[in-house]
This record gives sequence, C-alpha cells and structure tokens, in this order.
Amino acid sequence: MRPALTALKSSSSNRWLARQAQDPFVRSRATGQQGTGAGTQLRARSGFKLSELARKYPLLHGRAVVDLGAAPGGWSQVAAKAIRRQSRRGHGGIPGAVVAVDLLPMEELEGVQVVEGDFFDHSVQEQVRMGLKGFNKDGSADTVLSDMMAAMSGVRVRDVQSSLDLVQAATTFAHVVLRPKKDSYPGGSLVLKFFMHPDLNEFRKTELEPFFTKVATDKPKASRSESSEAYWVCLGYKGRNPETGEPLPSPAPVADVSDEAKAASE
Ligand SMILES: C[S@@+](CC[C@H](N)C(=O)[O-])C[C@H]1O[C@@H](n2cnc3c(N)ncnc32)[C@H](O)[C@@H]1O
Repeated sequence: MRPALTALKSSSSNRWLARQAQDPFVRSRATGQQGTGAGTQLRARSGFKLSELARKYPLLHGRAVVDLGAAPGGWSQVAAKAIRRQSRRGHGGIPGAVVAVDLLPMEELEGVQVVEGDFFDHSVQEQVRMGLKGFNKDGSADTVLSDMMAAMSGVRVRDVQSSLDLVQAATTFAHVVLRPKKDSYPGGSLVLKFFMHPDLNEFRKTELEPFFTKVATDKPKASRSESSEAYWVCLGYKGRNPETGEPLPSPAPVADVSDEAKAASE
C-alpha cells in the first residue's frame, strides 16, 4: 500500500526540522554567534557563505558592491558591514554602499539600496547603474556578487540552462560596471553562484578566465553538501575591449628601479 501524502509530507518536514536543528550555521544565525566572521545576526543562513569566501579571497575591499539575488539580505549585510569597516579605515572617509537586486521584496538595511525586479529586465539593470552613480560618479563597482538562483524545475537540462542564463547575465553586467585593473588598483571582483555541470565548466574557461587574473571554484562549508551549487570567485578584472570583446592587455609591469640601476652598472 502506498503511504498517504500527508504522512510523506510530515516525514519530510520532520527530516527538514532535524537537519535545521543540527545545522551549526542555522544555530549561529539564530544566536548571532561570533566566530563566523559575520559577528551579527544574519537574515539568511547563506550570509555565512559570503563571509567564508570573503575571509579566503580579497573580495570586499572596495566601496561599491552590487548584490544580485539579494533577498532576504544575508549577503548584503555582510557586504555592507565590510564597506563600513573600510570607510572607517580609508577611502578618504567617503562612504560606500551596496546596491541589492531581487525579484522579491527585501526589508531595508543600513547602507543598502534595494532595487526590486527581474535582473534580466534592462530597466532594472539601469536602476542599479543609477544607484551606483548616486555615490560613485562614474557608476563603477568594485565587486559584483551573484547568488541568484531560479526556482528549480527538477528537470536537469532546464535547471542547468537557467543557471547558465543567470551567470551569463551577471557576467555581461560585470563587464559594464566593474573597475578594471589600473596602476595600484588590483581590478574588481566577481562572485557567481552556478550549478556544477560540464557546460558550466566551459563557461568558466571561455567567459571568465580570459578576463580575470584569477578564477577559483569554491564550495563554502556553509553550502549544503547535497546541493550541486558552487561559486566562481573571479579576482583582478582586466577590462574588455568594447569593439573586439577581447580582454584588455595587462598594463606593462613597472620597471624595478634597482634592476635598471644594476643594468646601468654592468
Ligand atoms: C539563494 S537566494 C539569495 C539569498 C541571498 N544571497 C541572501 O544572502 O539572503 C536566491 C535569490 O535569487 C533571486 N533571483 C532569482 N532569479 C532572479 C532574477 N532574474 N532577478 C532577480 N533576482 C532573482 C531569488 O528571488 C532569490 O531571492
């Protein structure tokens, strides 16, 4: 005899409750426990993923951050906190900000400007650019984060395509707003959530690696092991030639004065 639907539902919610009760990240989020790098109550468990990535890679060292797929706001909280810390330390005291986008409404957060809408919509992308211009004349960003995830259909091919569409849209936008490497500026960063699949490996090779000094694939501890999500962390944006679409050549290394002096004395 097949089990009744209500019995199946209650056993799966019991499993969910048991998993939540044992999840150290859920417990830390509820208590605002220190030692997570966040040091504050996070709106979403996913905030721990960004804290972990930001401890490992220099991602949040600028003052303008775009957070795509931001609701309910865990990543925005972590990014806004990093920016506040930075503006106390430097940036000539100029405050920075996070521009956050989501299809869903998001409650206000200090230092975060929220744009509600579909990121595929051109007018939504324009609002993000206007938001950046509000505190940064050229409308550029130091970091673009994308934790966007479409609702899963359960059909693998369709879900992989949705993930590819989202990473593609976030990358195209990153080319428009990220500050390229110049002089002592190391170049902006891009973080993309993706679903592990060979088609997505190809995207990394052709669309990310040529444009960044370093591209790493990471699965933070806070990302559930049963989930096939992972993140690309792209550092040191090189810029892109708007006519050819090719990466801009890296600036020539500055000549080391001691080398020149050595050559002259030989
Ligand atoms: C995993 S949640 C993000 C959690 C968030 N980073 C946090 O820390 O609170 C993924 C989000 O992506 C959003 N999303 C998916 N597709 C989107 C789209 N086309 N435009 C904007 N947001 C989108 C969803 O609405 C959802 O809130």
